[in-house]
Amino acid sequence: MSVAIYPGSFDPLTCGHVSIIERGLRIFDKVIVGIAINIQKVPLLTLEERVALIQQSFPGDEVEVDSFEGLLVDYARRRNCTVLLRGLRAVSDFEYELQMANMNRKLDDTIETMFMMTEESHFYVSSRLVKEVARFGGKVEGLVPKHVEAKLNEKFGR
Ligand code: PNS
Repeated sequence: MSVAIYPGSFDPLTCGHVSIIERGLRIFDKVIVGIAINIQKVPLLTLEERVALIQQSFPGDEVEVDSFEGLLVDYARRRNCTVLLRGLRAVSDFEYELQMANMNRKLDDTIETMFMMTEESHFYVSSRLVKEVARFGGKVEGLVPKHVEAKLNEKFGR
C-alpha cells in the first residue's frame, strides 16, 4: 500500500488543503494528515478541534488524521512512510519549502518530499489569511469547508 504523509499546522484546514489531500489520494492509497504540534506557536484551534475538522472532511479509511511532536522525519520513520506531500502555492512558498525539503533530506535521505501545485482557484488561500479575514468579520465562504467556517464563526463569537 502506498502511503504519503501530508504534514502541516492545519490551523485551520482550508479548501487548498482539501484539494491537495484529494489529489494526493489519486496517487497514494492512503494519506496520513500529520498535524505538527509546535509549542512555539499558539494555535487558534486546539489539536482536538483541528483533528475533528479534518476527520469530518475525510471520514473514510484512506485518510488518517494524526499528530506528532518533534522532527517530521522521525515521525515519518515511526510511521514507516518515505513520502512527504506538500502543496506549493505562489513563488513565495518556494524558498521556505525548498529549505525544508533539503533539511529533511539532510536529516534522512530515504525520505522524499513531493510537491503538488495548488489549484489556481486556491493559490491565494492560506490558514493565516483565512484566520485574519474571519477575525475581522470578512467572509471566508468557499475558502474553507462549511464546518470549518462554522467553527471560525464560533471562535470569533459570530
Ligand atoms: O502548515 P505549515 O505550518 O507550513 O507546516 C510546517 C511543518 C509542520 C510541515 C514544519 O514546520 C515541520 O515539519 N515541523 C516539524 C519540525 C521539523 O521537522 N522541523 C524541521 C523541518 S525543516
